[in-house]
Amino acid sequence: MDWHHVLAGRTGRMKASEIRELLKLLDQPDIISFAGGIPDPKLFPTAAFSDAMADVLSGPGAGAALQYSVSEGYRPLRDWIAVEMGRIGVPCDADNILITSGSQQALDYLAKLMINPGDTVLLGWPTYLGALGAFNAYEPRFDQLVPGGNRGAADYAAAAETAGGRVKFAYLSVDFANPTGETLSRRQREAVLDLAEALDIAIVEDAAYQSLRYDGEAVPPILALELERTGDLEACRTLYCGSFSKSLSPGLRVGWVVGAKSVISRLVLMKQAADLHSATLNQIATQRVAQSCFKDHVANLRAVYSARRDHMLDALGRHMPNGVTWTRPEGGMFIWVTLPVGLDGADLLARSLETERVAFVPGRAFFADGSNGNTLRLSFSCADEAMIEEGISRLGRLIRGQLRT
Ligand SMILES: Cc1ncc(COP(=O)(O)O)c(C=O)c1O
Repeated sequence: MDWHHVLAGRTGRMKASEIRELLKLLDQPDIISFAGGIPDPKLFPTAAFSDAMADVLSGPGAGAALQYSVSEGYRPLRDWIAVEMGRIGVPCDADNILITSGSQQALDYLAKLMINPGDTVLLGWPTYLGALGAFNAYEPRFDQLVPGGNRGAADYAAAAETAGGRVKFAYLSVDFANPTGETLSRRQREAVLDLAEALDIAIVEDAAYQSLRYDGEAVPPILALELERTGDLEACRTLYCGSFSKSLSPGLRVGWVVGAKSVISRLVLMKQAADLHSATLNQIATQRVAQSCFKDHVANLRAVYSARRDHMLDALGRHMPNGVTWTRPEGGMFIWVTLPVGLDGADLLARSLETERVAFVPGRAFFADGSNGNTLRLSFSCADEAMIEEGISRLGRLIRGQLRT
């Protein structure tokens, strides 16, 4: 069958993720990979999950754990999240929270909720690839958001109108962003709020890495800053997307959205239509593990990942030639490298895989307009000190060689 004439127009914008393709390389034993932005599986709280699941399935709640459940999500888990949100400046209750199948699903739902074809989404250059993919399916136009930059609301609105739609929301990965590792300052967050108020648009705050801060001062979420302004969560335009993927386990697919009840109730309808609810057993196990060991577990992750970050920063300092620069993240999993203009991350990857057997993600894929080819993303989350030293030294040698040719 020729599928083209039955496919919807939006499928033309869907393309395979370079990262997902690259993840296949992780299986080859001789590759040193800094490519996948994934947690180290050796650090998963496996015993805690095993105990929690065994306990649930051998007790009186086994039937309910294997049964359909409510679309909003497992109530004790939403209660636990509400307490944690309160700790970071967002007092709320369970009705302000929807459990999603990872925060990726929240990004899809929020785009589905707000974007008509031709509408504009404001986002950073570069931005999380999975957000570009999720939004793309709803056929938006992307415009570059520079938090605290000098383009005013009228300029964004006029550009959106010329393109045949209106600006609907600003999307930001706020802490230790994927891919740059950078964190938005309080001033930048306030500036985004000002812009969103002037444009009367929503803010999608992606806080997937929020719990992985290694040093520096925590910055309040945009939603907390907005609450300081409005005094009422129901009046807030920010929708906060959280996730247990980086702190406990990505495979269980448990994330959440916090926002005004009027939006959460619409998202609940969306979830009912899409997948009814996230996996009941996974939510129950996540709540039990979070309740028993979240703080200690995350403290251990911070200790291990921050040491890996330090090793990578140190190795970059020793092995990279002049003209190569990189970010110094205060948390998360990524360092963003900028090569001298003229070098291309994708070409470098091809050569690297062939000659040095080191993998990373070329930066171009993270730009909505495919620009800035002279960048790459390195992840330190799954590499030990020896791999980091060897991999960065090989990469430095390759780049030095490229600069000479
Ligand atoms: C910035 C960011 N947001 C969202 C996600 C999606 O995570 P999950 O759906 O596992 O919660 C990721 C995953 O890598 C990410 O890096």
